[in-house]
Amino acid sequence: MKVFINKRIPENGIEILKDGNLDIMLPETEHPTHEEWLQSCKKADIILSVGGKNKYDKSFFDACPNVKAIALFSVGFDQVDIAEATKRKVAVGNTPDVLSRATSDVAFLLMQMVSRKASYNIAKVKSGNWKDFDAMEELGQELYGKTLGILGLGRIGFEMAKKCKSAFGTNIIYHNRNHNEPAEKALGAKYVSFDELVENSDIISIHANYTPEQADLFNKDVFEKMKENLIFINTARGGFHNEKDLFEALISGKIWGAGLDVTNPEPMQKDSPLLALPNVCVLPHIGSATLEARSGMARLAAENVVAFSKGEKMPTCVNPVVYED
Ligand code: DGY
Repeated sequence: MKVFINKRIPENGIEILKDGNLDIMLPETEHPTHEEWLQSCKKADIILSVGGKNKYDKSFFDACPNVKAIALFSVGFDQVDIAEATKRKVAVGNTPDVLSRATSDVAFLLMQMVSRKASYNIAKVKSGNWKDFDAMEELGQELYGKTLGILGLGRIGFEMAKKCKSAFGTNIIYHNRNHNEPAEKALGAKYVSFDELVENSDIISIHANYTPEQADLFNKDVFEKMKENLIFINTARGGFHNEKDLFEALISGKIWGAGLDVTNPEPMQKDSPLLALPNVCVLPHIGSATLEARSGMARLAAENVVAFSKGEKMPTCVNPVVYED
C-alpha cells in the first residue's frame, strides 16, 4: 500500500513503516502548495498527516476516493470531518497519551510565565531596559491555594491538574462531557457547570477536544464573567477563544493574563496587539515538541498505518465504528 507522509517525522516512525513493507511517498517539493499536496494524496491509500493545516473534509474525500485511512500525527483530530470519514469507511487514527505530559508541561509553564509576566520581563532584559529595583513594579501573583478550572479533564487535563495540585495545592474544578471519577478520587476534582467554571476559577486551562461548535467559546460575554485575577491558558486549539475579545478583556482589566500555545489564526501575526501586553505569553504551538513525545507520536502514527495496511484495527483509532460490518 502507498503511504503519503506530507512532512518529515522522527526516524523511528519511518523504520516502522519500512518494516511494514509500505511504499512511502514524500512531498515532491519542500513547501508543496495545496494543489501539490492534493495531487500526492490522490495517489495514496493511506495518509500519515503531519500538522494541522490540511483539512480532510467532504471535498477532500470527493477528490481522493482512493484514500482509505488517515493516520494523524497529533492527538487532536479537528482537521478531519470524522462523520464524513466514517460515512466513507475511512479509518482515522491519532496519537493520544504519548504527548500528555509534554503538553501539560507547556500549560504549566505558561501559567507560571504569565503569573510572573516572564515574557515581558525577558524582553525588558534583552532590550536593555532592566531598571533599578522598584518594590512596586512588575508584581506578579502567586498561585498557591488558587482554584484551577479545567475545561476537558481527559489525559492532558489530568496531568495539568496533578502538577498544579502538587506544586501549588490548587483546588481543581472541571467541566467535561462526562465525570472523570479517577480525577475526582485522586485529586479531589469537582465537576461544575461551564458557568461555574468561568465564574469561580483563578486559572482556566483548556484541554478539550475542539469541534466547530466550540468556536469562540471564550468570548466577550464569557470573559466578562471571569474573576479579575483570572489567568487564561489555552494549549488546545486557538478556535476556542476569540482573540479580539481576549485582548479587550485583558486591556480593560476584566481578566489578569493569558498564556497561549495555540492562537487564532496560526501562526499569530507578529503585530498582534496581544504580544505587546505584559501579562501575555505566547508560544508557537510547541505543546508536544519534545524528543520523547514526538518519537512516541511517530511510533503511534506509524503503527496505525501498518495495522491498517494489514487489515487490522488501528491501535488508536478515532472512529473504530468503521471496523464494524
Ligand atoms: C496535537 O497533537 O493535537 C497537537 O496540538 C499537535 O498538533
